[in-house]
Amino acid sequence: MRTLLELIREIATNIHAHVIADRRHLHAHPELSFNEFETSAFVKKRLAEMCIPYQAVHNTGIVAIIQGALKSDRVIALRADMDALPITETNVSAFTSLNHGVMHACGHDAHTASLLGTAKILNELKADFGGTVKLIFQPAEEKLPGGAIGMIKEGVLDDPRPTAVFGQHVMPTIPCGKIGICKGKAMASMDELFVTVHGKGGHGAEPHKNIDPVLIASHIIVALQQVVSRNIDPIVPSLLSFGRVIADGAINIIPDKVCMEGTFRTFDEEWRIAAHEKMQRIAIGMAESMGGSCDFTIVKGYPHLINRETLADRTRICLEEYVGKENVMEVDPWMAAEDFAYYSQVIDSCFYLLGTRCEKKGITASLHSSTFTIDEDALLIGSGLMAYIAVRQLDNGQHAFD
Ligand code: NI
Repeated sequence: MRTLLELIREIATNIHAHVIADRRHLHAHPELSFNEFETSAFVKKRLAEMCIPYQAVHNTGIVAIIQGALKSDRVIALRADMDALPITETNVSAFTSLNHGVMHACGHDAHTASLLGTAKILNELKADFGGTVKLIFQPAEEKLPGGAIGMIKEGVLDDPRPTAVFGQHVMPTIPCGKIGICKGKAMASMDELFVTVHGKGGHGAEPHKNIDPVLIASHIIVALQQVVSRNIDPIVPSLLSFGRVIADGAINIIPDKVCMEGTFRTFDEEWRIAAHEKMQRIAIGMAESMGGSCDFTIVKGYPHLINRETLADRTRICLEEYVGKENVMEVDPWMAAEDFAYYSQVIDSCFYLLGTRCEKKGITASLHSSTFTIDEDALLIGSGLMAYIAVRQLDNGQHAFD
């Protein structure tokens, strides 16, 4: 008698080399957000080879359906993102990016290849489980407004509607073989701030004849920090960082304007909106009080990502069953943002981290770096684990096989 867990492990092992080959192909052919044409064609080709029905959603996005043969009306969804980043890869390998200036530096090649592996496993086992698995291959995680919101608007979560959505992300700080999970609020919301302070430029030796936007901008940067430190309960993480401040004058020239760009992140949607208003009010008021003016534009990014508590608990059990209790780590909330958050705002969802670090092999580079890579042994876990979570969530976990 073999359990579903054993069968999934066996198929995952058998297809590991194919998953690696797919990941390497995708790695060598990265495409930027909303331009995943070849990637999308590759995924469709693979799905067609497996006779898995699919539909295009939101341009390059794809939703595929695997229907278990046993009677069940349960539906769950698994999601992988497909886009790459505008980074020039400096790794040298047989599958180094062939698309100069574009690189899978966030592991979305691994996510896509892994989900294709999961599709293969579930497709081979479909006679032995009940319910529907939706496979979501999503474009544009890396670029606002993100691909998730477009796919949701175009109905990827409708007809049939899943009761749970799962996603995974490679993580170079977690050793290969281990999985990280954070229960509850797991990743931050992210908004982009664009601030232009207008003054009146002139000679640096005649400040009284000018309105110095550099001084106004300096006050604004300092004043806005009190929004995050004095207006919200300190147990709600909030951060504000300005990473770009352009005052394009000179040693003795006060410029006409200063442009600033920054990011605001938090874990509370109500506070997020309130903070936007406070920041705008303070900046505009401060500029006016000093004789200048201020344009303050906020481009809303992704909401915060929630791993619903009961679903996270159930997922954790699956993780422990698949990789062993000692290999599942509770991780802290992460201030990075991820558009998987959109699914989590409308349907119970769980997003976990797949360890891809291997110090022995020298695989330690951070996400979004030109030397990022993964320990491909993680793909063996990534593909099988998602298949296992799917069938367990569809309540087929106790099914045994001869
Ligand atoms: Ni990513």
